[in-house]
Amino acid sequence: MDLRIRTALRTDVPKINEILNYAIENTNYNLNLNARSSEDAYAWFDSHVKEDYPVVTAVIDSQVVGWASLSHFRAYSGYDTTAEVSVYVERGFRHKGIGTMLLTELERRAKRFHMLIAVITDNNTASLSLHSRCGFIPVCTLREIAFKNKEYISITLMNKKL
Ligand SMILES: CC(C)(COP(=O)(O)OP(=O)(O)OC[C@H]1O[C@@H](n2cnc3c(N)ncnc32)[C@H](O)[C@@H]1OP(=O)(O)O)[C@@H](O)C(=O)NCCC(=O)NCCS
Repeated sequence: MDLRIRTALRTDVPKINEILNYAIENTNYNLNLNARSSEDAYAWFDSHVKEDYPVVTAVIDSQVVGWASLSHFRAYSGYDTTAEVSVYVERGFRHKGIGTMLLTELERRAKRFHMLIAVITDNNTASLSLHSRCGFIPVCTLREIAFKNKEYISITLMNKKL
């Protein structure tokens, strides 16, 4: 298996969006209620490139099987020293260490930030384990802060000081 983690290309955007939309449409791990359009996915990618927020992909034999990114945590400039982590691995490729590799590479590219933060739904044991394993610490749980698929959802914030 020839697995590489590399900088995401604009041509990766459709596959990145497909992996994201699977989570939106089939799980409570992502709290969007509606799939992200292709237009919005390109806008998301272009703004990351423009603002130098990293997006990386895991590629096996030139096929994208996962991605990770850093994004603005909140839209107030006082938070610019913090970045929010996203990491997604395609079904069928999970539990093989790819999430860990993506997060490790993202952190290598996060030198300008002081703090990384992950916002994780309480039922997402895989993501909680992944972030713990990579040195993130649970900070707090916001109970029933969101509503999706007919239930209130709690989220746990985990952070890692760089
Ligand atoms: C979370 C996710 C990215 C993990 O990716 P992955 O490639 O499976 O992760 P790894 O193989 O590197 O495993 C990392 C840790 O997670 C644990 N893990 C992975 N899948 C798991 C599962 N289904 N249940 C429990 N733990 C799991 C592993 O055991 C490992 O921890 P450990 O070795 O200390 O036991 C992947 O499950 C995923 O894409 N989930 C859907 C999208 C998502 O929830 N993204 C995060 C939003 S906050």
